[in-house]
Amino acid sequence: MSDPNAGLLTGQRALVTGANSGIGAAVARGLAMAGAKVAINYVVDEPAAKKLVNEIEKSAGEAMAIHADVSRESDVQQMFERMIETWGSIDILVNNAGIQRDAPFLDMTLSQWNKVMEVNLTGQFLCTREATREFVRRGVVPELSCAAGKVICMSSVHEVIPWAGHVNYAASKGGVMMFMQSVAQELAHIKVRVNGIAPGAIRTPINRVAWETPEAEASLLKLIPYARIGDPADIAKAVVWLASDQSDYVTGTTLFVDGGMTLYPGFREGG
Ligand code: BGC
Repeated sequence: MSDPNAGLLTGQRALVTGANSGIGAAVARGLAMAGAKVAINYVVDEPAAKKLVNEIEKSAGEAMAIHADVSRESDVQQMFERMIETWGSIDILVNNAGIQRDAPFLDMTLSQWNKVMEVNLTGQFLCTREATREFVRRGVVPELSCAAGKVICMSSVHEVIPWAGHVNYAASKGGVMMFMQSVAQELAHIKVRVNGIAPGAIRTPINRVAWETPEAEASLLKLIPYARIGDPADIAKAVVWLASDQSDYVTGTTLFVDGGMTLYPGFREGG
């Protein structure tokens, strides 16, 4: 069967942060399959980023790997300069880079708190600011898209589900939600669309301990009504839709892709 998204993003230029692994890598593949040129940002694991570029090029796509720490202003500015120099502009930004530094609250260090905020929240601010400046400079190109640009902020179910032992992470994702909505409100009139995706438990390196043993997996599945752990491709499909004109009237929204994790599964029998 041919890919239903083939050609949906032809000619558009996308940047995916933290695209060397997990959800980011799947998103980069999905955007490339839909016809976009994809810049694969990474901060660690250059070989993985380059491998993904090769893989995309082998299937007739276009990609490049760009090193940058999204929490550093100069790195981010240089990354955008390189992308815009190479491909002329940017149409789609996927703010995907994110980390966890878990600790019981009483033991959480300032450095664990700051590191998570810097990558998960400040990183989204710095990248979104650069991308939207370019969207405004360039304006709408009707042959490419109805919008001047699209930003997709990777959030988490923990933008609404409190998470003991992960206070820094949950606080950063709550911040991502309000960041996304406020930028969406501010820039909608110039045809910039900004949306969030809130993944549930997706099988990636970030949550390996939650699924790598049968016991851990069984306990995780109790939290997922749809009875399967998510696949990174589930998120990629949602990103492609939010990046395309198929979602042209959608802005300021969080799309939960979580197998029902936010449905309070404990209440199926309780309450
Ligand atoms: C976290 C994962 C976790 C999932 C569901 C994600 O945002 O990064 O570690 O498994 O939320 O709790």
